[in-house]
Amino acid sequence: MAITSAGETGTAQPSEAAAVEILMNRGLRNMWYPVAPGWMIGPAPVGLTRLSENIVLWRDSAGKVHALEDRCPHRGARLTLGWSLGDRLACWYHGVEVRGDGVVPRVPAQANAPMEGKRCVRSYHVEERAGTIFVWFGDSLHADPAELQLPDELVSPEYEAILCTAHWKCNYRYAIDNVMDPMHGAYLHAQSHSMAEGDKHAEMRLRKTDTGFVFEKANQRGVNFDWTEFGITNALWLRLEIPYGKQAGPGGAFTIVGMVVPVDEEHCRVFFWRIRKISGWQKDTWKFMYRARLEKLHWDVLEQDRVVLEDMAPQAREHEFLYQHDAGLGRVRTTLLKAARDQVKALAAAKSAAGEAPRAAGVA
Ligand code: FES
Ligand SMILES: [Fe+2]
Repeated sequence: MAITSAGETGTAQPSEAAAVEILMNRGLRNMWYPVAPGWMIGPAPVGLTRLSENIVLWRDSAGKVHALEDRCPHRGARLTLGWSLGDRLACWYHGVEVRGDGVVPRVPAQANAPMEGKRCVRSYHVEERAGTIFVWFGDSLHADPAELQLPDELVSPEYEAILCTAHWKCNYRYAIDNVMDPMHGAYLHAQSHSMAEGDKHAEMRLRKTDTGFVFEKANQRGVNFDWTEFGITNALWLRLEIPYGKQAGPGGAFTIVGMVVPVDEEHCRVFFWRIRKISGWQKDTWKFMYRARLEKLHWDVLEQDRVVLEDMAPQAREHEFLYQHDAGLGRVRTTLLKAARDQVKALAAAKSAAGEAPRAAGVA
């Protein structure tokens, strides 16, 4: 089956249910995703797989990051193997040049090649925020991006964030489920420096917010990992607090904002920003102290999550026996499933209205 992007197919058409499943497994479209920390992208081309698509990214001389499908339009060599000429890449195989907008300005091996001046490569919209590269993954009906809205803690100068990111060998949905399950803090992380306290038994409840909902313990707050928030603002994010005394740093609650990008159906990259509400000279001091005293402990906790998730039984989510504490992840699953169905239906409707398959997003 020729897949042009998740949920959009070439010749053979999957059933609606199969298209929804593909979309759910590879990642919903029409959203911004963090794809890499900013420091990872320099002038040399970098190849990444995100939402099962191969992408090449590089930073031009003005500092702007570009992202293209990692495929030369001539004969399909990886553009990642080529080199940067500033605002464009040159393919290693025969030197074809591709600009950041996907247009081929030059075919050095032949005069007046038909490729010249044409947009031959899919390009992606890129934003750099909070020290992180975000890419818009639209379907063919949403090639132009919606506004990227991130939680205040990532964009307001009142906060300082330290990014921690890791590659996990599990589907991205497990990483979301894990954060939507605060109760695991009191068990999986029971020996941790920050989650050893509090009740091992709780009543959980859901509370709606403007951008999603909060899933929280009904009778405990500020003791352990007691609540988690799910938000969709043209990007999917999670927010939680870890309790710390004043000795662990200034600025009130220690907040964590989490996001995840699917790599492919069996891998993902998680992004966790550790955040304090601080300003001025305290920012640098806090960062130094955090790195010296706490970061290693947090990595240890994150490793506990990674080990459990990577070792889950095959197709674990198809053989579950959920209880009330799983209502948060259940609500997220329902929300994502509805969004996936809506996206598949909209594509099918557009296709039947046009009497043809919609073009893959971003291709001229
Ligand atoms: S394959 Fe890239 S220039 Fe030929
Ligand atoms: Fe955890």
